[in-house]
Amino acid sequence: MTNKIYNFSAGPSALPESVIDTIKSEINNFDQGMSVLEISHRSSAFKKYADESEENLRNLLNINSDYSVLFLQGGATHQFSMLPQNLSYKESADYLVTGAWSAKAADYGSYHTSVNIVSNSINNNYTTLNDITSWSLNDDAEYFYYASNETIHGLEIHETPAVNVPIINDMSSTICSRPININDYGLIFAGAQKNLGIAGLTVVIANNDLIENKAKNLPPISRYETHAKEKSMLNTSPVFAWYVAGLVFKWILEQGGLKTMGEINKEKAKLLYEFIDDSSIYSNPVEKKYRSWMNIPFIIKDASLDESFLCEASKEGLKNLKGHRTVGGMRASMYNAMPIEGVKKLIDFMDYFQSRNLNNV
Ligand SMILES: Cc1ncc(COP(=O)(O)O)c(C=O)c1O
Repeated sequence: MTNKIYNFSAGPSALPESVIDTIKSEINNFDQGMSVLEISHRSSAFKKYADESEENLRNLLNINSDYSVLFLQGGATHQFSMLPQNLSYKESADYLVTGAWSAKAADYGSYHTSVNIVSNSINNNYTTLNDITSWSLNDDAEYFYYASNETIHGLEIHETPAVNVPIINDMSSTICSRPININDYGLIFAGAQKNLGIAGLTVVIANNDLIENKAKNLPPISRYETHAKEKSMLNTSPVFAWYVAGLVFKWILEQGGLKTMGEINKEKAKLLYEFIDDSSIYSNPVEKKYRSWMNIPFIIKDASLDESFLCEASKEGLKNLKGHRTVGGMRASMYNAMPIEGVKKLIDFMDYFQSRNLNNV
């Protein structure tokens, strides 16, 4: 086996190698001998770069002019509050809970609005989606909230739920992993540190009708509408994180866009799930239909092997495979930047580890 490092972290996570190379080569001079680390978000060079990056993201996701694209700070968690603050006029919102992140969003939402949990997969340990016929949907709700990919539990909803109110999607761990139809959504958001670059930036894509003339009771910094009008430069923008996201957008376009990304991601996930399902010692608890392409949790039958698995994997260059502290076991996060070779190397290692431990389980 080679010494190449593959980083399976759930986020912040691996960046494409060529993006890191570009950062290295450009770090001393972004504009007139000044580093991107030391320039103003209002400099003409950065404004031009920001416009280009937005254009590239619009091309990738096919975002039309009915939508605003915002480059904000505060992390995805901040959106758990900003969203209901901005949109909770009917004083009721529907939340679908399918894992830790949507559960947290529902909790945060309840500080601002009356949260109606339409269905909660905690009743099956977040391993499947309850059938839509059992959901208690409210057609008068201001919006319907869900997280299409649950990063910790590895549950992904592959089709947008058919509901009658504006749909909000936390796409932090799945944005740009495949094509989507943006018109299905009222608003989507994503922390950048998984598929769009580094921590410090949160991308929000919002339908203009949904955010216009809303939240006048809030200070400008808390309103989507002001950020949209000010082109995400109401206050100091996260310049470096935005710059990195711009490089990632270009990289995805160079790879062939989201169709190609989707094909590669599907293939990577298929290889690992097939191996796990055929194995004697590993298992993944999520119902097949709802398995995540991005985050694959798995356990070893005998949990006392976890430590040696992680230690040996790390020595082989397979890093950050420990499962989330709340669920234990292992988790392989395989965002766009994880090459298929990394997944194959992981499978080879898991196979080898299994062959040496078959008698212990
Ligand atoms: C699906 C999802 N939503 C929200 C968050 C929270 O993101 P942040 O740490 O940027 O607030 C995460 C973090 O991993 C996540 O995976």
